[in-house]
Amino acid sequence: MIVSDQPGPTEAEPEAAASPWRPTPPQIHKFKSPELLAEAAAKRFLETARHAVEKSDRFIVVLAGGSTPRSLYRLLTESPYREKVPWRQTYFVFGDERCVPPDDETSNYRMVHEVLLGPLEIPGTRVLRMKGEQVPVDAARRYEVRLSDLFLNLPKRRFDLTLLGIGKDGHTASLFPGTAALEEQERWVVANEVPQLGAWRLTLTLRSLNASGRVIFLATGEDKAQVIAEAFGGVEHPERHPCERVAPLHVRREVLIDYPAASKIPAPEPASG
Ligand code: 6PG
Repeated sequence: MIVSDQPGPTEAEPEAAASPWRPTPPQIHKFKSPELLAEAAAKRFLETARHAVEKSDRFIVVLAGGSTPRSLYRLLTESPYREKVPWRQTYFVFGDERCVPPDDETSNYRMVHEVLLGPLEIPGTRVLRMKGEQVPVDAARRYEVRLSDLFLNLPKRRFDLTLLGIGKDGHTASLFPGTAALEEQERWVVANEVPQLGAWRLTLTLRSLNASGRVIFLATGEDKAQVIAEAFGGVEHPERHPCERVAPLHVRREVLIDYPAASKIPAPEPASG
């Protein structure tokens, strides 16, 4: 578990590959403000996009919903990111969606279109919208087909970058504690009934999220401090926090948090001797 304010290597520690597989501890980056956090996330977005396009002429990114990523998305529509990110080769996947129409104020698609896709004038052909207005199981099945088509002719079914938020209960995407989607081993996307919300959601599964080449969690605010400390403070509780179960093999996950969200992470043990 490395606590740093500076970006570090993202590949797994060599010894992690030798021992029985345990998730490589995430790299925690703490920022003074949500603005500085968004800037750091935008830089990572750009570097990952460039690397992916150099390798396979395509950048496939999973977008987080909720409110935290708004500032990142807005920043990406401004200089220098507007000009530098290879948008024409970028394909947008959604990590999850509420089961509502795309113009509903709670729709993740509506938020992302408003702050990112619209201002960048991204054509719909490169945006895989989860159709929250459809019957959830049908929408999930259709999304599964769209993902298969997206990966057609690519050497690996893999997202180049996955952006994720974290709920106070440790959920991520719409993988809520105790819900059926957490047990899905085959499908990449499912309809998930969330009793805690009294609602259905569409969500990528752990199977698909763990097919990411890079994972960046974003969390800000005091109200996330407890879950951040529990989930990424050094002791793992994967049975309690779905976010901890997003841990692709040999991928160094990054957790970008502001100081309030970092405020309950235990201080590292003083060096002995
Ligand atoms: C959603 C998200 C969800 C979100 C967390 C954090 O559809 O709500 O995908 O996983 O990322 O709930 O939400 P905030 O960023 O609003 O705190």
